[in-house]
Amino acid sequence: MAFLPEGIERVLISENEIRTKVGELAARISLDYAGSQPLLVGLLKGSFIFLADLARALNIDSEIDFLTVSSYGNTMENSEVRILKDLAEPIQGRDVLIVEDIIDTGLTLSKILELLRGRHPRSLKVCTLLNKPSRRQTPVTVDYNGFDIEDVFVAGYGIDFAQKYRNLPQLVVVKKL
Ligand code: IMP
Repeated sequence: MAFLPEGIERVLISENEIRTKVGELAARISLDYAGSQPLLVGLLKGSFIFLADLARALNIDSEIDFLTVSSYGNTMENSEVRILKDLAEPIQGRDVLIVEDIIDTGLTLSKILELLRGRHPRSLKVCTLLNKPSRRQTPVTVDYNGFDIEDVFVAGYGIDFAQKYRNLPQLVVVKKL
């Protein structure tokens, strides 16, 4: 068993299960985007490891960019996102695939979709590693979904708890304080 720090309750999804799922997602994406060269947009910081693995498992050409936003508010009415790091290039006419770590309420992603749609990509789709359907406050279409999970706080594989645990190779449940 790999090293698990103090604050971790249990492993939720093992390295092997992640690897298999990333392979399955990459196979579907490679088929769907055959003949295209999608721009993979990783939402930082949580998606950096997932994006790195997914991009290497694709068997089509792709380009990579990153977007960092911070979210304010937690209701449909008052949620806002502020761009901390914008995309490097225009996306007009491009096939854009957003790569997300985890969709929870859906508020952040719905704002990002609205923002990017306004830049007139040719297509705009979403790939997420994790999804918490029971927490959704606003509907978002998820085109490629890794795992539906229960309402627990997860970390590892790029995802943090107070900036910790991003380096863990598996997905873990954080102990409740
Ligand atoms: P949403 O706007 O509520 O869907 O928030 C999505 C973002 O919240 C994700 O991209 C994560 O950064 C963060 N988040 C949601 N659930 C978790 C979790 O269980 N662990 C770590 N971060 C989470």
